[in-house]
Amino acid sequence: MHSEKLKNFLHKRRQAEQSGGEEKIQSQHEKGKLTARERIDLLLDESSFTEIDALVTHHYYEFDMQNKKFFGDGVVTGYGTINGRKVFLFAYDFTVLGGTLSEMGAKKITKVMEHATRVGCPIIGIIDSGGARIQEGILSLDGFASIFYHNQLASGVVPQITCSIGPSAGGAVYSPAMTDFVIMVDKISTMFVTGPEVVKTVLGEEVSFDELGGAMSHGKISGVSHFVAKNEYQCMDTVKSLLSYMPQNNTEEPPIVDTGDDPNRLDNNLINIVPENPLQPYDMKEIIHSIVDNHQFFEIHELFAQNVIVGFGRLHGKTVGIVANQPMVLAGALDIDSSNKASRFVRLCDCYNIPIVTLVDTPGYMPGTHQEHGGIIRHGSKLLYAYCEATVPKITIIIGKAYGGAYIAMGSKNLGTDMNYAWPTAQIAVLGSEAAVRIMNRKEIETAKDPISLKKQLVDNFTEKFANPYVAASYGTIDTVIDPAETRPVIIRALEGLTNKRERRIPRKHGNINL
Ligand code: HXC
Repeated sequence: MHSEKLKNFLHKRRQAEQSGGEEKIQSQHEKGKLTARERIDLLLDESSFTEIDALVTHHYYEFDMQNKKFFGDGVVTGYGTINGRKVFLFAYDFTVLGGTLSEMGAKKITKVMEHATRVGCPIIGIIDSGGARIQEGILSLDGFASIFYHNQLASGVVPQITCSIGPSAGGAVYSPAMTDFVIMVDKISTMFVTGPEVVKTVLGEEVSFDELGGAMSHGKISGVSHFVAKNEYQCMDTVKSLLSYMPQNNTEEPPIVDTGDDPNRLDNNLINIVPENPLQPYDMKEIIHSIVDNHQFFEIHELFAQNVIVGFGRLHGKTVGIVANQPMVLAGALDIDSSNKASRFVRLCDCYNIPIVTLVDTPGYMPGTHQEHGGIIRHGSKLLYAYCEATVPKITIIIGKAYGGAYIAMGSKNLGTDMNYAWPTAQIAVLGSEAAVRIMNRKEIETAKDPISLKKQLVDNFTEKFANPYVAASYGTIDTVIDPAETRPVIIRALEGLTNKRERRIPRKHGNINL
C-alpha cells in the first residue's frame, strides 16, 4: 500500500523535474537557450539546490486550462549556495506555457522573496517569460503586483540580481527594473513593455525584437541592463562576480578578500596619464586600474553613459565603489544619463555598506537645449541628493578639472564627503579660465586696443590664480594635495581612518529624491 503511495509520489516528482516535457525542452535548446533547471545548475554550487513548491499547479479552468497543468506552473524556485554563500532564486520555466506568470507562479516567487528577505540572503531572478498569463487575466496581473511589492520590500535589505535570458515581456520587465542589477544575454534576451507587433499597430513603426529591446539596446541606450553577457555562461559568472563584492544583506559588510596586493604600492607613472594640455582626453580607467588591488576593476554599466564610470574594486581586500568621470567621452561632462547612472550606483553602495571613492575630472554639467529640455536639472540633482544621502565612508580625489556644479556634484566636501584630496594637476573653479574671463571681462576685452593679447593675459592670470588645488586646500575643502604616485596608499589609509564611521540622521519615513 505504502509502496504504491511512494511510487505515485516519485512519478509526480519525475514529472515535475521534466517541466513542460521533452518536446518543449528540445524547442528551448533549439532556440539556443538552457532550461530553467540547467540554468540553476550552472549558477549554484554543485548539488546545493533545494527546490520549493515543485508540486504547485494552477487552479484555473477557463480556456481549457484544466488540460494544461504542469507541476511547478512555469517557475522553478528554491535556494542554494554560490561559492558557499546562500542565495534564494526563482527561474521562469519557458517550457511551461512560455514561462508566463500565473497566480500560483507569483505566489511561489513571492514566497522565496519573503524567505530571502527574512534570512538576509540575496535574491536571484532568472527571467524567460511571455509576461502575464493571458488566460488568468486579473489573477496574473495581481501576481505581478505582489512581486513588485516584494521587490520593494527587499530593496536595500538584500541584493537583488536579475538574469534576463530570453523574452521578458509586459509585467516581466518591471520586476527586473526594480532590482539592483540586470544582466542580459546578447542575441537571446529581449525586454519590452509591448512587442514589435503592438509597436507597429499603434505607431506604424517597423522594428525588430532585438532592435526594440535586445541586450545591446538596453545595455547601451536605455541603461536598463547593467551588463551584456556574451552567453548564458558569462551571465552566471557575472552574477558570481557581483556577489563577491556585495554583502549578504544591509546589516553586513562585504566579504574581505586576501588579494595579496601591497597596500603601500606606489605608481610613479600615474601623473603621466594626465596630459599637460587639459583639453586633451585621457583614459580614466588607466588610473582606476592602477589604484585597485591587483588592477582588477569590475565595471558596471560599461556600455551606457560612458562619460561616467562606475564599478567595484578592492582596496587592501575591501570592496569599494568607484565613481569617476571619463574624459575620453564627452570630455567627462555630466549629462542626464550619466547623472542617473552615477546616482543609482552611489545609492546602491550606500544601501550595502560599500565605501565610495570618487575620481574627478569634469568640465561641468552638459549645456544645451537637448539636456535642459530633457531635464538635466531634475536628473542632475539626483547625483547631489545621492551623495548627500550616502552615509558610508566617502573619499574624493580631484585629478583634473572640477568646474562649477559638477565639482560640487562629484563628492565635494560640503556634500558630506569625509576625505577630499587633489592632485597638483587639479583645477578647481566655478568655470574654466576661458569661460570665466569671457564672462567677467567681456566689456574690458571688447574695448581693448589689443583684445587678443589682453584676453590671453587675463586667462593666464585666472589659470595661475584659481585653476589649481591650492585655493581649495587653503580653505580646507581639500584636505590635502597629494603626490599622484601615492593615491592608492592615501585612499587605503583614509578608509582605515574611516572604519566604523557612524552617521545618524533625523529619523523620517524616507526622503523625497527628485526622481
Ligand atoms: C499566455 C503565452 C503568453 C502569454 C506566450 N505564451 N506568451 N500564453 N499568455 N502572455 C505561450 C504561447 O502561446 C506558447 O504556447 C508558449 O507560450 C511559447 O510562446 P511562443 O510564442 O511559441 O514562443 P516564442 O516564439 O519564443 O515567443 C515568445 C514571446 C511571444 C516573444 C514571449 O510568445 C510573445 O510575444 N508573447 C506575448 C508577450 C506579451 O505581450 N506579454 C504581455 C502580457 S501583458 P504553446 O502552448 O504554443 O507552447 C503583461 C502586463 C503586465 O504582462 C503589466 C504589469 C505592469
